[in-house]
Amino acid sequence: MKHLAIYPGTFDPFTNGHLDVLERALTIFDQVIVVIAENSKKKTLFSIEERCEMIETVTKSFKGIRVEVLHGGLLAEYAHAAGAAAIIRGVRQVKDFEYEFQMSLLNRHLNPDVTTVFLMPNVKYTYVASSIIREVALLGGDVSKFVHPCVLKMLRKKYEEQNV
Ligand code: PNS
Repeated sequence: MKHLAIYPGTFDPFTNGHLDVLERALTIFDQVIVVIAENSKKKTLFSIEERCEMIETVTKSFKGIRVEVLHGGLLAEYAHAAGAAAIIRGVRQVKDFEYEFQMSLLNRHLNPDVTTVFLMPNVKYTYVASSIIREVALLGGDVSKFVHPCVLKMLRKKYEEQNV
């Protein structure tokens, strides 16, 4: 049994669905590195520093978690360098699967020592995605059930800044 997993994503922002997946991963692995992937092609609402700050705040009472950034480069290579046995991905719906299947097989091709582990969040988060949270928050909707209070605060601040 190997004990380290990585949990990669964009996390723009980190939702309670992400947190649920992370907590499930911690029941299987001793240590999980949350890896925020920088993607120059994807315009994000929150900067890398802000996303690091939010995930560190949300997970500060957890043991066995650390947050790191993948500044470009391949996740499979990052996993190899970190000595990770697994890549954790959350799947909510069948439509997630095609993309996840493709990524997991490519990652296995690039690094045969790493296995992708798919975890399903609690059913109450099946329709929660960062993109929809951003949209609802932008339009003034209540997303407090779906994000940690610190993320809610950061969302409000961000949109206040943008609406000036
Ligand atoms: O939260 P997301 O946006 O669905 O996460 C996608 C992510 C970050 C896991 C994926 O884009 C990724 O692994 N990026 C790192 C670059 C890489 O290795 N790409 C090839 C994946 S097969």
